[in-house]
Amino acid sequence: MKRMSFSKTILTALATLLVGSPCTYAQSSRLWVVTGDNVAAAVQQSLASRQSVADDLVAPTFQVINGMSVADIAEKDLDRFSNWMRSACPRCGGFTVHASREAALKEVDNPAYKPGFRYLAPLPETLDQQSTVSRALDRVKGDKILSTITMLQGFGTRHFETSKGQEAAEFVRREWQSMGQERPDFTVALFSHGWVQNSVIGTIRGASRPEEVVVIGAHIDSINRKNKENPKENAPGADDDASGVAVVTEALRVLMEMGFKPQRTITFMAYSAEEVGLRGSAEIADRYAAESKEGQEVIAVLQFDMIGFNADRGPRDIYLVDDYTSPELNGFLTKLLKEYNHSGAHAITHGETKGCYACSDHVSWMRNGIRAAWPFEAPLEGSNPYIHTSEDVVSKLDATKAARFAKLAIEFLIETAKGVDGRESYRN
Ligand code: BES
Ligand code: ZN
Repeated sequence: MKRMSFSKTILTALATLLVGSPCTYAQSSRLWVVTGDNVAAAVQQSLASRQSVADDLVAPTFQVINGMSVADIAEKDLDRFSNWMRSACPRCGGFTVHASREAALKEVDNPAYKPGFRYLAPLPETLDQQSTVSRALDRVKGDKILSTITMLQGFGTRHFETSKGQEAAEFVRREWQSMGQERPDFTVALFSHGWVQNSVIGTIRGASRPEEVVVIGAHIDSINRKNKENPKENAPGADDDASGVAVVTEALRVLMEMGFKPQRTITFMAYSAEEVGLRGSAEIADRYAAESKEGQEVIAVLQFDMIGFNADRGPRDIYLVDDYTSPELNGFLTKLLKEYNHSGAHAITHGETKGCYACSDHVSWMRNGIRAAWPFEAPLEGSNPYIHTSEDVVSKLDATKAARFAKLAIEFLIETAKGVDGRESYRN
């Protein structure tokens, strides 16, 4: 991981990228974006080739600060910025969005990305839930995961600014609610943002340590970046990221079906607006981090984003993304895979892959000093080529592969939250 400091502020890369008249640009509200380390080079290249330079130009100015790049853009240009990032620099690793320059600069110098960062709450040291985990793993069903993906893809789009996107969020809320309807310790809430689509948050309250929280999440929104005129249409987003929401849903279904009652609180999340700069998860993680000052503590977070595509170039089942994630949590996941998935019916092979900055919602948590990890479907360069197009559909996904991610999610939840299963456990 890179060291970042303000002392070495390098100059500015000028990019003429975004469409929009200078006049409206000046009037609209501004946002600050922080991008990964290789964006400046891509900007230069894109300028040299003029590939993605549009007719009507507005120039964001990237200030490169010790390897990260910061620019301010008009809020209304966020979609276009996002499109440009993906086409000019597919491996640039996304971006985070901030309300002020000060907040963006804080992100550039974030101690949570530096080696040796110390988290407040410890991870459990021992794996001691073998019998509960083994009962849970037998219940996981790949076809259930695919049927949730099919339902979500059926909305046609889940773009964060569309009513279909909001209907999809309401669908997820209903599904989760119906799975936990017998449980007085389970609630599902919609989290409102300043846009159409809500995020969805399901919570099983911990029986003995409710203030200690573990999280699994995925993003509910989708986008079509090929359809530049209208990124809101034809965005089935099956792998990206109905697949992640379906894994979160399957983990909840299994835990509810077996009557699992956790000691710590377990939270299930479907984040809105990931595709436009992790905006939904950023608001949620910021809120949880603020509450942690009042005694609530998020111990660890798993992100599921793209888990169903069997890539030729990735012979392993699961790849742990190894940058902008917590090495300690990746180590914990490796321990789980060794303990529960070394052989037999639940065998899972795994590897590591280079990640990227702000490619998915785990960074919203990492940014707040909360450990997060991202188990992914393939080496990053060999992942599903159909994402962000009308061809990201469920028929291209693999139920067995998807089920393995649900197993890891469940192992993680049971071993971090600890608890008991059996229907009696929550009736008494
Ligand atoms: N699931 C993708 C991230 C991804 C894409 C990982 C391709 C690996 C290969 C995610 O939904 C996404 O598209 N993220 C954006 C960043 C976001 C901040 C706009 C990206 O990577 O461009
Ligand atoms: Zn995406």
